[in-house]
Parts: sequence; C-alpha cells; structure tokens
Amino acid sequence: MPGLSDVYFVSSNNHKFQEVYSILDELDITVKHYAATLPEIQSASLYDIATHKAAHAYTLLKSPVIVEDAGLFIDSLKGFPGPYSSFVYDTIGNQGILNLVKVERGATFRSIVAYSDGSVSKCFSGELRGAISTRIVGTKWGYDPIFMPDGSHDTLAHIDKVSLSHRRLSLESFAAWFVSK
Ligand code: IMP
Repeated sequence: MPGLSDVYFVSSNNHKFQEVYSILDELDITVKHYAATLPEIQSASLYDIATHKAAHAYTLLKSPVIVEDAGLFIDSLKGFPGPYSSFVYDTIGNQGILNLVKVERGATFRSIVAYSDGSVSKCFSGELRGAISTRIVGTKWGYDPIFMPDGSHDTLAHIDKVSLSHRRLSLESFAAWFVSK
C-alpha cells in the first residue's frame, strides 16, 4: 500500500519508468512504479493532458504522484505531431515522419512532468532541441531512432540520453521543487 511519503510514477510505459527512476534516483528521490494506463483527454496542450492525468492518478492512489507526458514538435510541420505523438507513432511510425519532413529538419522534444497530491497540482517542463535525421538509425523506443540532438551526428537511439533528455530537464525541475517543499 502507498505510504504518505512515497512518490509514485504512474505510467504503463516501462521504458519511461526506467528513465525516470534512474534520473530521480541520482537526485535522491526514490520513485515507485504504479503501472496503469491513464485516460488521456483530447487537447493541443501537453500541460492540460499531463495535469488531467496526474489528477486522475491521484484518485487511484491517494498518495503523491507524478506522471509525464512528452511529444515531438517538428518545426516544418508546425509542431506536428506534438500532443498526438503517441497516436502518430502507432499509425505512420518513424518512416511516416521521415516521408513528411523535407529540407527544414529542426525539431524539439518536450516533456511535462505533472505532480498531484490532492491539494497541490504543479507542472514542470523540459526541452531537447535537435533535428530529424534523414534515415532511421538504431532500434530504441519511439522517435529516438530519428532524432539527433543539437551537437550530435547520431540519433538518440545511439546516445546515452539519460544525461541530456527533455525528461531529465523536466524531472530536474520537479526534483528541485519537491525536495524544497
Ligand atoms: P507519451 O504520450 O508521453 O508516452 O509520449 C508520446 C509519444 O512520443 C510516445 O509514444 C513516443 O513515441 C514518443 N516519445 C516521447 N518521449 C520520447 C523519447 O524520449 N524518445 C522517443 N520517443 C519519445
């Protein structure tokens, strides 16, 4: 059963939990995984989606929770797929994205961590700037094989992304607030 001082990370995605666990562990926060698929509202805002998920997750656990929502925002596609990243990945996949992106290849990964403890609700954001590669490189999770962070000639699939990811930045921001509250 959840204890009062625990922070739960609620997600059905084990890749994400591993990344979140290793980042928060370094920052002296031990996070527990509660595996659940949370309902996702239709919204163009990652903040709204994550805030709603965190509120719902709190009703399940009645203990402080964080959830994380991320998306890939491609400049030349006016931010598409953004909040629809999951659906787009499952439908057209990485090759579908490569078919859409032509000369201008700039893109940003955004991560929102939302916290809820029943009375306080707060969001923290992080961004990783980069470019869409011209081909699929590597086999890791999601869009990692087509995203090259600025300053790198390789995709996230071949990089130790835990040290630089959008998720690290949003979690660092959460951790700074959480340990001081
Ligand atoms: P989610 O809704 O936060 O799970 O993320 C939406 C989609 O974006 C996921 O299904 C992945 O395809 C993709 N995504 C989010 N973060 C990452 C990442 O760090 N690497 C690769 N793909 C990601």
